[in-house]
Amino acid sequence: MGIRIDQDKMQAHLYTKNTSYIIDTLEGELVHSYWGKRIDLPESSPLVPIESFVSFYPNPNKLNQTYSLDVLPREYPDFGRSDYRNPSVRIRLQDGTRITKFMVQSFEIIEGKPGIEGLPSTYSENNDDVSTLKVTLKDDKTGVIVELFYSVFGEYDALTRYARYENTGCDNVELESALSANVDFYNDKDFDLVHFSGSWGRERAFNRLPVGKSTHIIESKRGSSSHMQNPLVLLTRPKTDDLQGEVYGMNLVYSGSFKAIVEVNSYDTTRLAMGINDYDFDWILTPGASFSTPEVVMTYSDEGFNGMSHIYHSLYKERLCRGPHRDQERPVLINNWEATYFQFTQEKLEAIADSAGELGIELFVLDDGWFGKRDSTLSGLGDWFVNDEKLASGLSGVADYVNKKDLAFGLWFEPEMISVDSDLYRAHPDWCLHAPGHNRTEGRNQLVLDFSRADVQDHIIHVVSEILRSHPITYVKWDMNRNMTEVNSELLTPEQQGETTHRYMLGLYRVMEAITEEFKDILFESCSGGGGRFDPGMLYYMPQTWTSDDTDAYERQFIQYGTSFAYPQITMGSHVSVSPNHQTGREASLQTRAHISMMANLGYELDLSILTEEDKEEVIRQISFYKSIRKDVQFGRLYRLLSPYGKKGTCFLIESEDQSRYYLYYFRGVKRLNYGKFTLPLKYLSEGCYTSEIIRFTEKTMVLRDPNGYEIKDTLDECVIFPSSYLNNFGYTFGYQRYDFDSTMVVFTKNES
Ligand code: DGJ
Repeated sequence: MGIRIDQDKMQAHLYTKNTSYIIDTLEGELVHSYWGKRIDLPESSPLVPIESFVSFYPNPNKLNQTYSLDVLPREYPDFGRSDYRNPSVRIRLQDGTRITKFMVQSFEIIEGKPGIEGLPSTYSENNDDVSTLKVTLKDDKTGVIVELFYSVFGEYDALTRYARYENTGCDNVELESALSANVDFYNDKDFDLVHFSGSWGRERAFNRLPVGKSTHIIESKRGSSSHMQNPLVLLTRPKTDDLQGEVYGMNLVYSGSFKAIVEVNSYDTTRLAMGINDYDFDWILTPGASFSTPEVVMTYSDEGFNGMSHIYHSLYKERLCRGPHRDQERPVLINNWEATYFQFTQEKLEAIADSAGELGIELFVLDDGWFGKRDSTLSGLGDWFVNDEKLASGLSGVADYVNKKDLAFGLWFEPEMISVDSDLYRAHPDWCLHAPGHNRTEGRNQLVLDFSRADVQDHIIHVVSEILRSHPITYVKWDMNRNMTEVNSELLTPEQQGETTHRYMLGLYRVMEAITEEFKDILFESCSGGGGRFDPGMLYYMPQTWTSDDTDAYERQFIQYGTSFAYPQITMGSHVSVSPNHQTGREASLQTRAHISMMANLGYELDLSILTEEDKEEVIRQISFYKSIRKDVQFGRLYRLLSPYGKKGTCFLIESEDQSRYYLYYFRGVKRLNYGKFTLPLKYLSEGCYTSEIIRFTEKTMVLRDPNGYEIKDTLDECVIFPSSYLNNFGYTFGYQRYDFDSTMVVFTKNES
C-alpha cells in the first residue's frame, strides 16, 4: 500500500488496500488514468487512450492533432486553452486575461501527511500507513505554482486531496476559482448522482438522479455548508444500493459555501469536481503569498453504499475527530430547549435536574436564554454574561445544583452572532458583516459577527474561554442560527472583499482551534439550527453535531439514514422529545422515540419533571439499557439494511467492534391493516450462532383483535438461537405491526463456541 512513482513516465500509482488511483503526464499535461478497484499496471503503454476524432476541436499541440484538452481526462483543469468544461483553476492576471497553462514540474513522495495551514483535515497518527504525493504544476506566464497533495490512507482505503497555490511571480494575481479536486472518468457516463439536500428540519435527504448528458451543480452559497445541500456527492452505478455495487464519493472538509460539479462531455467522459464555491469567492495572491484549498476525502467501494460509509466512518472516527472524546463513550444528556424554550426559571431547571438525576441521566445541558437580556430571539446575542434575573444564583449556582444531582453541566453558546439589541452591538456596531449604504439584513432577528476580523475572533476567544475557565462545564453546544448576507468586511480593501467568506471560515476555525485546544476535556457539540453545518470541517474541532431540530421519531429515520452515508453514528446527537412532537404534531410511542435515538448518541429533550410515573420507569429502563450497549452502538459498524424511502420500513444494523453482538433496529410507518409478517435477510452477521433478545422498554399493552374478535398476539419469539447463515440469508422475521410508527429492536449475541 502506498505510492509508486515512475519518474520517466511521470506517472504515479496510489494504492490502498482495495483501490488504485493513477495519474499520468501527457505532453506536460497532468491526466487522470484510473480510479477504482485495485489493479496492477502493465509495463508499457499509457492507460488513457488519447486518440480521438478531434478535427473540430481546438488543439493545443500543432504536431499532435489526435487529442484536444476538451476530451482529455484532466486531473486539475485550467482555463482558456481548449477545455470547455468547468475548470478547477481560473486566475485573473493583471492584464485582464484568465488563460493559464499549468504544466507538470515534478512528482515527489512525502512520508505521512502534512496538515493544511488554518484548515481542518484528516491526519495520520504514529504508525499509520499514510503517505503523500505532491505533484507540482507551474504556469510560466504568471509564475503561479499549484501543488496537488494526495494522501493515501492505505488501511482505511481512503484518499484525500487538496491544492496549494504559491505566487512565485512578480505581479498580483486573482484566484477566481480554486477547487480542491477534480476527477475525469474517461468515456464513462454510466453513473447516477447521489446528493443530500433539504432544509431546516429535514436535512440530508437522499436524492438520486441519472447524470445523463448534462451538468449538475450541488452547492451551498450561504456561508455555511448548509441544511440545503451537504458537501457530500456520490457517483454510483445505476444498480448500486446500500448492499452492493460501485460508488465513488467526495466529501469536502469545509464548513462554508461549497460547490460540486458533475459534467458529462460529448465523449461521455464524466467530470466530478469539488471545492470552495466561486459564487462569492476570489482571492488576491500577492507575490510570495500562498493559498490552500480545503481537503476532499475521496472513497471508492464496490460493496455498495454501506461499503463506502464504512470507509468514511472509520476515517472520521479515528483520523478526523480529535481529542480525548474521540475515543470516549458519550454521556446521556438532558437538554432543556424543547422543555422550556426561553421561558425557564431557576426552579424549573432544578426540577428538570432533579428528575434527570433520578432517571440515570449523566449530563444537564442549559440551552439558549441564560445570558444577557435573552428572553426571545430579539436580543442578547453577544452578551455572554449570565442573566441574573432568570438565574439568581448565577451559572455557578445552576452548575452546583446540577452537580449535586450527579449530573455534569453543559452550556449553549452562539458565539458567531450578535443581536442589534445587545451591549456588544451598542459598543461595536461595526463588528458585524455589513456593507456601506446597505441595510443590515437580519435572520432570526440577528446579525453575523465578522469573524474575518482578528479583533472579533480574539474577543470571542476571550469571553467564551473566561466562562469555561470559571465554571465546571464539561460540554458545550456551539450553535449558529442564520446564513450570511451583506458579506463584506470593514477591515478588508475593496479588492479583497471577495475574500470575506473564506476569511470568515479561517477565522472561525482559528477560534474553534484555540478554544477546543485549551479546553480539551470539554465535549463540544456543533449545531446550526440543527444540522445546518453537519460537515467534516466541524467534526475536526467538535466530535459530534446536533443532527436536526426535527426530533420526530419518523422524520428522524430519513435524517439519520441520509446523515449516516458519510458521518458515523457517534457524531450524531439524537434526542427523545415529547409526543405529540413539537415540530410535526405526530404521536409516537416512547419506545419508538428511544429506539431511533439509540442508534446514535442518546439524549432527552423534554420536561422530565412532568413525566408520569409509568413513563419515568420506562425512561429508567431505556437509559440503563443504553448505557450497557453504548460502547457497541457508538463505536460499532453501522449497516443500512432498509431505506426509509422504500415501502417496507427502515432498518439499521450495528455490529460491535469485536463482531460478537449485533443490534437490529426496525421502524415502520403508518399502520396498514392485514399485511403478513416480514422477513429480512440481515446479510452481515459474522459466522456463528446467535441468541436473540427483543428489547422492550414499555409495559403498556395494546390489545388488537382479528375479524372474529380474538386477540392478535405479538408473535415474536423471545431468546431464539439462530445460525448466522439462517439470519443472513433467510432472515429475521418481524412480528405484526401493532400501531403507527411501531419499532422493534433486537440484540443478537454470539454464543460461545
Ligand atoms: C437552534 C438549535 O438547533 C436548537 O437545538 C436550540 O439550541 C436553539 N437553536 C436555541 O436557540
